[in-house]
Amino acid sequence: MSSTVELDLGPLHDYFEFEHADEDFRAAVVAGLSQPQKRLSSKYFYDERGSKLFDQITELPEYYPTRTETALLRAHAAEFAELIGPHASLVEFGSGSSTKVRILLDALDAPSAYVPIDISREHLIESAKGLADAYPDLMVVPVAADYTQPLELPDIPNEVVRIGFFPGSTIGNFTYSEAVDFLRTAATELGADNGLLIGVDLKKDTDILRAAYNDAAGVTAAFNLNILRHINRELGADFDLDGFTHDARWQDDKGRIEMHLVSEGKQTVTIDGQAFEFADGESIHTEDSHKYTVEGFHALAAEAGWRAFRHWTDPDELFSIHYLRVA
Ligand code: AVJ
Repeated sequence: MSSTVELDLGPLHDYFEFEHADEDFRAAVVAGLSQPQKRLSSKYFYDERGSKLFDQITELPEYYPTRTETALLRAHAAEFAELIGPHASLVEFGSGSSTKVRILLDALDAPSAYVPIDISREHLIESAKGLADAYPDLMVVPVAADYTQPLELPDIPNEVVRIGFFPGSTIGNFTYSEAVDFLRTAATELGADNGLLIGVDLKKDTDILRAAYNDAAGVTAAFNLNILRHINRELGADFDLDGFTHDARWQDDKGRIEMHLVSEGKQTVTIDGQAFEFADGESIHTEDSHKYTVEGFHALAAEAGWRAFRHWTDPDELFSIHYLRVA
């Protein structure tokens, strides 16, 4: 299942990789494009280019979540450190560039280890190296894996407490039942007596939401379209990137932003000799970004076996951070 690969991360570190069969990617894409409402999982945004585009999104003026969450992390870092205690290891689900975790690591009392988990292998290794350089006493154990699938976390020597870190409101990508499943699995993986620090985007004025996913510079559009480029490259598909346009819609009844790629005109796309027909205006649904109220998120966490211990929001109530403990 997992293989340890020799990587020059230094003597303190280790590296784990879970097999990612191309077959899974291919099968998921073919299955998604075969549905009446065509679908692609947002986890396939994050090849190397997609990860870089996402980093650009986080700096856009319209995209409030990252800067709001970062400010919350900075403002309350000492409180988190007190709640978490000494010698904790941090397990980050979907670590990306490992930027926010530095705020926590700087505040924690002698953290034991950092375990970043990410699907984008190159980006993961690059970020882990940067972190290992910046924190020479910290054990860094990157795990290349799809964290939406159950996985076995590496054993960390001398760890006193194991804390999950799931910032960015990535939980919003999941449907309600997927979110419950993820949180339940995370509770099992982290083990009893442990905690989870999670960022959750809040419901708000829909103009603010719409602008955040339809930025003027078109970075979100490029990010959305990149999923097709990723599929072309990895699976030998022939999507015409000029033949689709980005569309982000607020769906009030579902409490979420939906991202779609809309076909301009009738066209056929081929993957492995298999043809997929698109009508003019037909869309591929590529992402959901659910928004919660604090109460709504607490109900979800409770259903997954977590106790909401404390939470923090910014004065404008744009974003929330929650510290959960296994119930
Ligand atoms: C990383 C899932 C939290 O939903 O806001 C940003 C991804 N998509 N712009 C989000 C995203 C379009 C982001 N998450």
